[in-house]
Amino acid sequence: MEKGLHSETLLRWQLEAGVDEAISVDPVNHYHERSGKDQSGVTEEPSATPSPPVSPPVSPSIPPSGMNETAAIFKPAPTEVKRRRVEGQESALHDARAAAHNAPSLEALRTILENFEGCGLKTTATNLVFGEGNEQARIMFVGEAPGADEDRMGRPFVGASGQLFDNMMAAIGLDRKSAYITNILPWRPPGNRTPTPTEIAICLPFIERQIELIEPDILVMVGGISAKTLLGRSEGIMRMRGNWFDYASPGLPSPVQGRAIFHPDYLLGSPAHKREAWIDLLEIKARLKSFS
Ligand code: URA
Repeated sequence: MEKGLHSETLLRWQLEAGVDEAISVDPVNHYHERSGKDQSGVTEEPSATPSPPVSPPVSPSIPPSGMNETAAIFKPAPTEVKRRRVEGQESALHDARAAAHNAPSLEALRTILENFEGCGLKTTATNLVFGEGNEQARIMFVGEAPGADEDRMGRPFVGASGQLFDNMMAAIGLDRKSAYITNILPWRPPGNRTPTPTEIAICLPFIERQIELIEPDILVMVGGISAKTLLGRSEGIMRMRGNWFDYASPGLPSPVQGRAIFHPDYLLGSPAHKREAWIDLLEIKARLKSFS
């Protein structure tokens, strides 16, 4: 009697608190309750080993039993999550611009990148891959992003495509002592996936500053992503290669002559295009000569 009274009081208190639906604390398998019928309505054969109970689907509006209800209540709505993500990206972009802009030297820029926490790629990469080569070079090559070998060694273009890249440079009398080599992204995208526009945008101020600090006569954009990013154009590499472009930046005294070439990775898979690559390289060689 006492117990019944207590339950009634508890129920009334719950009603006053706004509880208007009775939901069990533990999941109930209503499906099993239907005397051994499967969804198709066919009666199951009795089994020697009872099958494990199947939990009913949990409604997203009801915190699953054991879940921290406070956490569920305060879980931000998707629009709020998106807003915070956008804010985070904007602040990373702002930080990247401010940090890169003030770098007085390549060494300082490298240190800034080593300490920069605004790009998620850093968390999955093994090493920062900064530019290398001749800091007084008249020609600068900018690739896309480090691959697995570059990530492991912390140096640009050292893998399979790097060997072809070295041969391409050698074909026009260049090497790592006479040219400067770097990438749009200083960290490897996991699994060599295509970098996202946000990752590219966040890393852009750093490569722009690297170009300003090298201040080359000729800027070679290796592959479509590099050319699109630095020239701010939407055409693919097929349309951009074979032409000269002006690359301008506020920190450069005058625009730099830019040329887009096929990426060695692409040439490894499509050797028929080496002919066009060769034409571009000879053009670059002739233009470089005109500066000396
Ligand atoms: N591909 C690139 O674009 N850069 C590298 O450093 C290696 C492969």
